[in-house]
Amino acid sequence: MRDTVPELGDLRERLDAARSVTVLTGSGISAESGLPTFRGVGGLWRTHRVEELASPQGFARDPRLVWTWYNERRNAHKSVEPSPAHVALAAIEKRVPDFTLATQNVDSLHLRAGSRNVLELHGNLREAKCTRCDARRPFDDAFDIEALEHECGGMWRPDIVWFGESLPAEVLAAAFDAARRAELMLVVGTSGIVHPAASLATKRVTRAYVVEINPEETALTAQVDQSIRARASDVLPGLA
Ligand code: APR
Repeated sequence: MRDTVPELGDLRERLDAARSVTVLTGSGISAESGLPTFRGVGGLWRTHRVEELASPQGFARDPRLVWTWYNERRNAHKSVEPSPAHVALAAIEKRVPDFTLATQNVDSLHLRAGSRNVLELHGNLREAKCTRCDARRPFDDAFDIEALEHECGGMWRPDIVWFGESLPAEVLAAAFDAARRAELMLVVGTSGIVHPAASLATKRVTRAYVVEINPEETALTAQVDQSIRARASDVLPGLA
């Protein structure tokens, strides 16, 4: 069902009445902060090779290229600020007894905006981990691509879920639990293509009233209860 921004009255009432709310976000909400999305115009996958940069095979083939790309992305994340949309979600969380924010984004912008209960489904760029042991270390500044070996014989890699890898089990379980108990779900800024993240918003998983906020149609549009054709910052601050 298509909707326009003025129809927020009903959504506000649903939000006020909801005890349990789950939000699923994708790179579209971070577009509001100036970061590129993956599949849109100017998106990362329009200008980079997915399989060579965001896959275990690509990393094994050329770890320095992969780290160079993640250094660029980490620097981009540090150079932008949370958007009004990110800040609005943090404000809404304070008013909802049971609020969960499941994000596919690895840019830490939800945490920087003040969101608390954040499930980072695809990891984040705040840490690196060893490919062999469970060592971790901060990834605050650019990683020295000439020092990628760990003393155990493994290699440092970004703490990111790559294509073909499974999501952290406890994070995914928490996200499914939140989706199952939610009365209201907001799906903001995701094309709904990548699973299992996208499945959180499907009727197979949630009984919530699902509202999508996206300037474009997505793979989820046909099955959500309400699809608002607008940008995140056009809607979320009005809800907060
Ligand atoms: N407000 C809301 N939505 C927006 C905005 C905006 N200002 N700008 C763009 N969008 C929407 C686009 O219309 C698109 O539907 O954000 C969505 C971005 O989709 P993708 O680029 O596919 O990004 P995402 O859905 O987050 O990708 C999911 O795929 O590449 C992997 O692991 C990566 O987490 C990522 C996953």
